[in-house]
Amino acid sequence: MRLSTVPVNAALVAFAACPSFAQNLRIEPNSLAPFVSSPQPIVEKMLEVASVKPGDTVYDLGCGDGRILITAVQKFHAKAVGVELNEKHAATADDNIKRLNLQNRAQVIHGNLMNVDIAGADVVTLYLMTLSNDKLRPKLERELKPGTRVVSLNYQVRGWKPVRVEEAEAYHRPYRIYLYEVPKAN
Ligand SMILES: C[S@@+](CC[C@H](N)C(=O)[O-])C[C@H]1O[C@@H](n2cnc3c(N)ncnc32)[C@H](O)[C@@H]1O
Repeated sequence: MRLSTVPVNAALVAFAACPSFAQNLRIEPNSLAPFVSSPQPIVEKMLEVASVKPGDTVYDLGCGDGRILITAVQKFHAKAVGVELNEKHAATADDNIKRLNLQNRAQVIHGNLMNVDIAGADVVTLYLMTLSNDKLRPKLERELKPGTRVVSLNYQVRGWKPVRVEEAEAYHRPYRIYLYEVPKAN
């Protein structure tokens, strides 16, 4: 049967009867971006572009499965804090960190990134969307200390001038990494 021939009510009943289908389509309130992981080579490039060094604290706002946190700790010898809205992804990130025994250097906060204090960051990583970055920018400006590096994958932070824009490719797909720096006080 073609979908167009299914009566609307029958389709709604089928939709309601299949929770996993419905759950996959549900848009989480407060969501600023869907879950799409950065490819590992791009994760490494983002952290390189941000010049992450030992002792830095990296905040990944919307940390998904925690891969940026894990890479920041394992390859760049930083500390890392992730914030993740989605319960399932936050639990996966937490499991991944514990499985690698990195819990003394990386932590995941399950919650809305808009409500988490980010003042402790030396580096912030973002893979959200342009409109989400618009919403986030006042918080970044309010809370981040001068000199904090902000790297955003594919989506610019409008109203800020990047100090570097890096083109990269992974698995035959192009990516763009924007690096910003919170201005130092005069
Ligand atoms: C495009 S994914 C990026 C995941 C990860 N940073 C990476 O680069 O692999 C965006 C993530 O942000 C999360 N997210 C969306 N809105 C959020 C919010 N308000 N607070 C915390 N996390 C959020 C999503 O659940 C999703 O896991």
